[in-house]
Amino acid sequence: MKKELVIVLDFGGQYNQLIARRVRECNVYCEVHPYTLGLDELKEMNPKGIIFTGGPNSAYSEDSPHYPKEIFELDIPILGICYGSQLMAHTLGGRVETAPVSEYGKTEVEIDRSSLLFHDVEEKTICWMSHTDYIAKAPDDFVVTATTPVCPVAAMENPDKKLYATQFHPEVMHTIEGTKMLYNFVYKVCGCQGDWQMSSFVEDTITSVREKVGNGKVLCALSGGVDSSVAAVLLSKAIGKQLTCVFVDHGLLRKNEGDEVENVFGPNGPYDLNFIRVNAQERFYNKLAGVTEPEEKRKIIGEEFIRVFEEEAKKIGTVDFLVQGTIYPDVIESGLGKSAVIKSHHNVGGLPDCVDFREIIEPLRLLFKDEVRRAGRELGIPEYLVSRQPFPGPGLGIRIIGEVTAEKVRIVQDADYIYREEIAKAGIEDLGQYFAALTNMRSVGVMGDGRTYDYAVALRAVNTTDFMTAECSEIPFEVLQKVMNRIINEVKGVNRVMYDLTSKPPGTIEFE
Ligand code: XMP
Repeated sequence: MKKELVIVLDFGGQYNQLIARRVRECNVYCEVHPYTLGLDELKEMNPKGIIFTGGPNSAYSEDSPHYPKEIFELDIPILGICYGSQLMAHTLGGRVETAPVSEYGKTEVEIDRSSLLFHDVEEKTICWMSHTDYIAKAPDDFVVTATTPVCPVAAMENPDKKLYATQFHPEVMHTIEGTKMLYNFVYKVCGCQGDWQMSSFVEDTITSVREKVGNGKVLCALSGGVDSSVAAVLLSKAIGKQLTCVFVDHGLLRKNEGDEVENVFGPNGPYDLNFIRVNAQERFYNKLAGVTEPEEKRKIIGEEFIRVFEEEAKKIGTVDFLVQGTIYPDVIESGLGKSAVIKSHHNVGGLPDCVDFREIIEPLRLLFKDEVRRAGRELGIPEYLVSRQPFPGPGLGIRIIGEVTAEKVRIVQDADYIYREEIAKAGIEDLGQYFAALTNMRSVGVMGDGRTYDYAVALRAVNTTDFMTAECSEIPFEVLQKVMNRIINEVKGVNRVMYDLTSKPPGTIEFE
């Protein structure tokens, strides 16, 4: 069945996929395409609506990205956002220029509630602005539907032609009623019914993977994290035993994690796939002995991981496809299209070079983390796997400051386990990313009547939506006290527990 589709035309904005995700949250399927998508191709896709993204350029410059004017005559609803709104104004005879006052951040906007786009939105509403150019004058056949004291056209529309534009960004969280505006656009303006669910994504992906793979062999490096687990289950549902998952236990996983992964994916689990667990703990500890420099530790773990994986892959022989659990934020972090590169993805990398295969399959590359979790639930993956916290590829290796030893791994695993258990008991698991780390500091303490000289454990908990910035979470003091008491009493080798208050920046989330 052909589904309703909304197309996001990307003019180089930072939030292009975020727009798509917000539209999908309204149960309407949405894809992002570059602004170079041909008009005929676009028509062929028969979208119910089109959204122009923001972008760093000035609509009036000759060399800025433009789109053929005919797009405005297709009778397909269009919503222009930021640069997209200026492009619409510029192309249709309005005037765009450098604003005398640029607006950045949360801004109160006064809207015209009679606009379909603003149905049920408060008359004065907080929106996210980020612009240096502005629409000084809307095209003649448009009406202005929102303003701020310094922005004469914060929104405009020509409802007869179904053309709408906002200077602000409805897709970002800081626009308090932004989701409502996008909902209004897809339902009230585009007339969508909302026929897209995560279940359809899962079914469609299973079908397309089956077609692509045929009777080929597929290899998956399974880490037990959310992304690779969801990718593996998706593939196993599609092609069963044609899939082999290799799970390398590097001895730097959280407590019991290796067994938990094996219970789900191994021969006693519910899935029909080939599962290989490699217990390589000793190998990693040997390589890490005496190494204290963080980058060197990361490199050693990454390289050893590849060696182990490579050895297993050689035993399997040639494979046709390699599955990767790449998700959308990995794609943007590594730099895609015209958006600025924020940071290069620092996962255990390099797998594709070491194995003979024809093609990579990345079934989750368009999804955000929470969408991946929803897909996982749809696939019936146990909740403790689906809601798992982000866990770095180098694992506890970068949560143990200084040299890694089996003994230190035991300490941090036990402390972290207690921390997580108490957070769960307090019912505050949604507080963000949280974990215990082992500092390299030993200090004098007293226990019973004796002197101790033991390690200090650091507890960390941060609130973050994008992992680029983070703030320390406020954990109730009694919970922290309970965790501290239990760690000191139950984990041998620790006599001090500290709580890290640092935000990112200047800190990072992990310690190394
Ligand atoms: P940082 O420490 O850079 O962490 O503030 C940001 C987020 O990324 C996770 N992280 C990693 N994830 N491989 C990964 O897959 C890595 O090497 C790695 N290092 C950090 C970290 O847990 C946090 O969520």
